[in-house]
Amino acid sequence: MKIYVTRKIPQIGIDVLEKAGHEVEVSPLDRPLSREELKDAVAGADGILSQLVDQIDGEILDAAGKQLKIVANYAVGFDNINIKDAQVRNVLVTNTPDILTGSVADHAFGLILAVGRRIVESDRFSRAGKYQGWQPFLLLGQDVSEKTLGIIGLGKIGSTLARRASKGFGMKVVYYDRDSVNKDLDQEIGARAVSMEELLKTSDFISVHVPLTPETKHLISTPQFELMKKTAVLINTSRGPVVDEQALLEALQKQDIFGAGIDVWEHEPELTPGLAELENIVITPHTASATIETRDNMSRVAAENINAALKGQTPPNLVKS
Ligand code: GLV
Ligand code: GLV
Repeated sequence: MKIYVTRKIPQIGIDVLEKAGHEVEVSPLDRPLSREELKDAVAGADGILSQLVDQIDGEILDAAGKQLKIVANYAVGFDNINIKDAQVRNVLVTNTPDILTGSVADHAFGLILAVGRRIVESDRFSRAGKYQGWQPFLLLGQDVSEKTLGIIGLGKIGSTLARRASKGFGMKVVYYDRDSVNKDLDQEIGARAVSMEELLKTSDFISVHVPLTPETKHLISTPQFELMKKTAVLINTSRGPVVDEQALLEALQKQDIFGAGIDVWEHEPELTPGLAELENIVITPHTASATIETRDNMSRVAAENINAALKGQTPPNLVKS
């Protein structure tokens, strides 16, 4: 059967598809496809292996045709796919959870350390030739160990970060999750479920791990920044629009919080004007899952989901609306 891959990905997944006897076409363009290009490219495909920047809705699914069985997203997040449009057309949708949990949690912790200890700012300072010798007050940051980490959204990534922060750095963990209390985690590391308000008021570091939905858009905005400690650090490795980036800019400019680390931006690839000029933010370009090992695994898992669906099986990572 025919599989269309919307952008070059690690070869391992292509091999998995070809070994199953499928005919694989990979976009030759090393950039996201325009909507028109995507519509043309997917025509006749039985499976689409999509990127998180591809907006997949009924129009794209119809352009593919009635034979289309599966859209396998090369990402854990799937807010770029209209699940209802897929369901009414009997098209399965899958993501790549689990295998990227560790690398995203590592990246979130990297941002915690980078912002708390002003590592990137210190690097800029050093490279600019500004260092004139040791000083008692040079580039003072915030301790990370033993501090309180507030996790918003306790899925796999949030709970993995919680364990690492507690076991490795002795952090106290509080969390807010709309629909889960994790008794095992509470027992294992002494984590505590709290209200959103208590989390915002008491945490030294706050890390966001919710999917983007209409309910989570701008979950963190001016009222939430106002509740945070002056010394708080906000980390976002989930989806950009979960944080109101204009409100973040203002909170950082007014030093209402100590700093922020963002891997995802509200209007990727555009950054809210003014953010890049601030010293108290560390910005990475949506690379939290970007390790060689994880990207290989994402490629393999996306391909395995397609193979299962095309054999008429339920793919391992089927998502529902
Ligand atoms: C990356 O953002 C992903 O959802 O995998
Ligand atoms: C989703 O982001 C998860 O927690 O795995």
